[in-house]
Amino acid sequence: MNLFDVYTCYNINLVNGKGAHLSDDKGNSYLDFYGGHGVISIGHSHPHYMYRLENQLHCLGFYSNAVKNDLQEKFACLLGKISGYETYNLFLCNSGAEANENALKVASFHNQKAKVIAIKGAFHGRTSGALSITDNPKLSSEFNAKHNVVFVAMNDELALKKELEKGDVSAVIIEGIQGVKGVVIPSNKFLKVAEKYCAENNALLILDEIQSGYGRTGKFFAHQYAGIQPDIITTAKGMGNGFPIAGVLISPKIKAWKGMLGTTFGGNHLSCAAATAVIETIEEEKLIDNANIIGDYLFFELKDNKAIKAIRGKGLMIGIDLENMSEIRTKLLMEYGIFTGASGNETLRLLPPLSIGIKEADQFISAFNQITQTVKNG
Ligand SMILES: Cc1ncc(COP(=O)(O)O)c(C=O)c1O
Repeated sequence: MNLFDVYTCYNINLVNGKGAHLSDDKGNSYLDFYGGHGVISIGHSHPHYMYRLENQLHCLGFYSNAVKNDLQEKFACLLGKISGYETYNLFLCNSGAEANENALKVASFHNQKAKVIAIKGAFHGRTSGALSITDNPKLSSEFNAKHNVVFVAMNDELALKKELEKGDVSAVIIEGIQGVKGVVIPSNKFLKVAEKYCAENNALLILDEIQSGYGRTGKFFAHQYAGIQPDIITTAKGMGNGFPIAGVLISPKIKAWKGMLGTTFGGNHLSCAAATAVIETIEEEKLIDNANIIGDYLFFELKDNKAIKAIRGKGLMIGIDLENMSEIRTKLLMEYGIFTGASGNETLRLLPPLSIGIKEADQFISAFNQITQTVKNG
């Protein structure tokens, strides 16, 4: 059997990881400044993470949600405490798209409406509903294009107000920071206004923190910079440090009923062990503070590089606009062994593990400065 050929990927076979460092089957070393797409929060093969997973595997790897699972309850307490959402309820599932799919469904069950407002440039996943609120027609099939979705421009308060006042909107969904679009940050005012207009028009505000959450931006959730409290928050990526787990945090005003949501694998014993280890490590190693410190350092050190057209971001979620981004990104990997991400044709995206230190930051800065001096810009 061959693989269904959908990924454009580098011909690099990674076999080992430790912290922010990787190596391939030929013995080449790499620095991970992309965290496997923003997933690696506490670093590869973290000892505490391995301990919790290994331990759990010796006890019980899996049972379904047909039985009570204490690990879920303990994890929910940890997540409530670290995020500041102790009064919210948690639904556990397996991926970012699934979390968003469930968030949209919960909103629709709650207010009995179907229309969703999403933001231009948004990416929310590739399942039916999640793709319908993703602003990329190339990914969309006839099957999922039937949902009732309207896109408004980021920070366009008036357009948002007009749509909401029609009264038929179930939910507004906004990324804490748009990742795929190129690290685009909603203004605090826009988020505040969205919260207010949603409340006035019986619509729910959903914050997709799948990429921007879990301490990546220097707060647990990026929207916490704006001081808002969304009705629903979705999270995934950094939550399991590579173990598939996602969550929907749901305001206590939304009532659950038996059978409302469900999943076979969601919240299984191993995934709870992984997610518990992640939060324990974030706390123990003060990784949210570290994301702030190293993020600020990267911004400060890069700000005078003349090749940079613009630099945006918070903490360790950073987008750098460059004329020859793709060439620079390829050189970073092929000549300096540094993994980074891309958004569109222009933006280099940095999503390193939250545990990187000054040494790793300097390794990136030095390679980036050398490459941008030699690659002609403009
Ligand atoms: C903001 C955001 N939402 C949702 C998703 C979808 O997550 P998943 O690929 O786990 O389904 C992603 C993935 O990149 C994302 O960045």
